[in-house]
Amino acid sequence: MKKKIALIFGVTGQDGAYLSKFLLKKNYIVHGIKRRNSTLNTYRIDDIYSDPFSKKKNFILHYGDISDSLSVFNIIKKVKPDEIYNLAAQSHVAVSFNLPEYTTNVDALGTLRILEAIVQLNKKIKFYQAGSSEMFGKVIETPQTEKTPFYPRSPYGVAKVYSHWITVNYRESHNLFACNGILFNHESPLRGETFVTKKVVRALCRIKQKKQKKLFLGNIYSKRDWGHAADYVQAMWKILQYKKPEDFVICTGKQYTIKQFINMVAKELKIKLRWNGKGINEKGIDGNNNIIIECKKKYLRPAEVDTLRGNYSKARKLLNWKPTHNIKSLIKDMIEYEYNSDS
Ligand code: NAP
Ligand code: GDD
Repeated sequence: MKKKIALIFGVTGQDGAYLSKFLLKKNYIVHGIKRRNSTLNTYRIDDIYSDPFSKKKNFILHYGDISDSLSVFNIIKKVKPDEIYNLAAQSHVAVSFNLPEYTTNVDALGTLRILEAIVQLNKKIKFYQAGSSEMFGKVIETPQTEKTPFYPRSPYGVAKVYSHWITVNYRESHNLFACNGILFNHESPLRGETFVTKKVVRALCRIKQKKQKKLFLGNIYSKRDWGHAADYVQAMWKILQYKKPEDFVICTGKQYTIKQFINMVAKELKIKLRWNGKGINEKGIDGNNNIIIECKKKYLRPAEVDTLRGNYSKARKLLNWKPTHNIKSLIKDMIEYEYNSDS
């Protein structure tokens, strides 16, 4: 049987790396788009990118950028994929307040560029759009489902809402197999260092190892529904294998505050942690009376998403998907990786 071909925009990111490895195990040929960078940024996929001259390559990288229509069009034309996963984004919510125009160009128009290329080249290509729980923003109801109205709170969230609706619109107007995964926060050892879970795990491991003295954070009272990226990329694939194109919420259904997350990490690392003070003056203090955590205004956002908790009933029923990780196994996985890395 002919191998299926997948094309991943955002292959060098956390999800791109997990999805590539998952699809290779499913016997796909995987093509990925990588941006030109002044330094190597392929550390997450170096283990699967081996010999660039081998004739039997099943993992192939191309230079491209979703802010550039021509490169998007030409790569899709050349690769002839069966499935496209659009994971490419300026994915940091706080950064989107500083770079709203750039974020909109990539996170909103980038999706349109891919959809338009599909319409021009081959309407049979299946398309997955990486939607986000950030679209629910100032939530209208809890838990959030596929039917919950959006109320985005950041330029990132607004751009993702555009991508959500343009995907629905191309599905309905051009009869594309185009789907939105509405994914809640998902983390892993490969998470970017500036997202809160990785920042906390990395810093507390380093503090434990006496490589660092303090961790600076922003709002530690927002609540998130955190899952493991390894579970969530399976859902992406299942969404494209379903008999018809639909949108799905992917989450765990459980939520914790950032402070609870910190406490769980500290406990796992056997760091005695107590808290003192209120609001921006709240501090985390270790067993030797050292202040190891401080809150800083710099990390507060102009508008915050206070609470997110999803309901994955539709995915469980139609895709037979459920998370295999819980918060404890996620934290253990992240700590283990951090301890074994030499940074
Ligand atoms: P990530 O680690 O930040 O990866 C983003 C990827 O997009 C990287 O490969 C990045 O390339 C690439 N990229 C950025 N701008 C690009 C451009 N102009 N052209 C081509 N590629 C570009 O994000 P992630 O956590 O894997 O998330 C994957 C997708 O899911 C994103 O769209 C994100 O918004 C969405 N999402 C994530 C979560 C989550 O909790 N992780 C939840 C919901 C939705 P470089 O390596 O060169 O920067
Ligand atoms: N990043 C960060 N850094 N967040 C902090 C910090 C800090 O120092 N201190 C507190 N926080 C709070 C943020 O204010 C937010 O309420 C929460 O921690 C989570 O922040 P992030 O880890 O940056 O994730 P996010 O929820 O804003 O966005 C992530 O999840 C979205 C899905 O809901 C990203 O992966 C998005 O791309 C994704 O769409």
